[in-house]
Amino acid sequence: MEIETKRLLLRPFQEEDAEDMLGYLEHPTVNCFMDMALSSLEEARAEAQKRSKELNYLFAIVLKENGKVIGEIEAYPEEESPDTFSPCWMLNPAYQGKGYAFEAAFAFFDYLFSEKGARRIYAYTEDYNLSSQHLCEKLGMRKEGCFKEFISFVKNPDGTPKYENTLQYAILKKEWVTKQ
Ligand SMILES: CC(C)(COP(=O)(O)OP(=O)(O)OC[C@H]1O[C@@H](n2cnc3c(N)ncnc32)[C@H](O)[C@@H]1OP(=O)(O)O)[C@@H](O)C(=O)NCCC(=O)NCCS
Repeated sequence: MEIETKRLLLRPFQEEDAEDMLGYLEHPTVNCFMDMALSSLEEARAEAQKRSKELNYLFAIVLKENGKVIGEIEAYPEEESPDTFSPCWMLNPAYQGKGYAFEAAFAFFDYLFSEKGARRIYAYTEDYNLSSQHLCEKLGMRKEGCFKEFISFVKNPDGTPKYENTLQYAILKKEWVTKQ
């Protein structure tokens, strides 16, 4: 499956994407993606090969003008409620602030709602992650609440869990359709 927008192609990962993936996954900029960190090109190659098998819910965000993978977007049907999806999005910092995340996420949401049976899409984002909150709001998602000290991805210097406050945003298919 491929999704095309004005400037981007969303397509499944390929083994050749390893170097570009390492470009943004060597040092993830948010705590919630620390467990996705890649430490070498070899590790990136293995990860790219693993990812290449997922054809419908995990996409490389590719710049059409030069074929570079500048980030990724994914969301899977939830096991208990397959009409519900929660996306993850990430761009290489060198390509942020250019509208690519919105362009990719808008097309991805449209695909989930129109082709993958999505009824509700919700996103978690930490209270300090203003870019991700801004993206949710630009996509028309409602802020549904804040879970205080909801989750811990990293430790404090003293070894105790560092808990983070998590905001939840969501949009329903009927809201998406009305907003278009
Ligand atoms: C979250 C994230 C994907 C958002 O990316 P982003 O680059 O800030 O978002 P966009 O690509 O939509 O760019 C937004 C800005 O680009 C600018 N821009 C420049 N050229 C543009 C163009 N041609 N079209 C649209 N916007 C453009 C605009 O100023 C826009 O801001 P605005 O909406 O206030 O007008 C990115 O910050 C990221 O990868 N963060 C790390 C991973 C992360 O936090 N993931 C979420 C975990 S919860």
